Amino acid sequence: MLSRKLTAALVALTSAGLVAGAAWAGPGVKYGSPISEADVAALDIDIRTTDGAGLPPGKGSVAEGAKIFAEQCLDCHGEKAAGGSVFGPMVGGVGSFLTDKRKLTPGSMYPYAPILFDYMKRAMPMTAPQSLSDNEVYALSAYILNLNGLVKDDAVMDAKSLAAVEMPNKNGFLVDSRPDTKADRCMSDCKPIKE
Ligand code: HEC
Repeated sequence: MLSRKLTAALVALTSAGLVAGAAWAGPGVKYGSPISEADVAALDIDIRTTDGAGLPPGKGSVAEGAKIFAEQCLDCHGEKAAGGSVFGPMVGGVGSFLTDKRKLTPGSMYPYAPILFDYMKRAMPMTAPQSLSDNEVYALSAYILNLNGLVKDDAVMDAKSLAAVEMPNKNGFLVDSRPDTKADRCMSDCKPIKE
């Protein structure tokens, strides 16, 4: 059993989140160490994709993105992201969601452009995730959006311009408000379950 004191400390930590990290270094606690601002910053990369809140400073152009893509992405994603050895196309398919032959690409599927930044920043290139700089991710976002016909050849993406890109499938998702289950809580003398 956890002692009451330790349980209380754990509850405090859980509710206060990372900020409470310093509590581990308090007197009597002989393990762990406070987390540094730099360590928190490295983990704090999520972006609110609906409006781009959390997008970092920096920028990148379509042309710069094309160069980085050729160096780091082409092997898996193919020439102009048309599909490669490891993954299918990341271009085209815009409007295909209204047909029974839908084609999933960032252009056809993503409701908000900042999703592209968030995903690439945390997960790509697959062999070295989180190795791209913010400027490189902006450039790659510009390039992939341009290949999908959503921004011009001379587009430069930054926190403002990326969040402003209107994605064609913006209204293609429905909020599913159904409850998972509907049941009255009962622990004794319960009504028989109706077939
Ligand atoms: C080693 C192979 C590999 C490399 C290199 C790679 N990717 Fe990927 N990429 C993948 C795979 C596999 C997926 C699908 C992952 C999944 O669905 O979980 C993917 C998915 C993606 C997606 C999401 C596509 C979608 O339809 O939602 C984007 C965007 C992307 N990669 C961009 C890049 C960029 C930009 C680079 C270069 C910086 C890169 N990738 C390098 C293998 C790779």
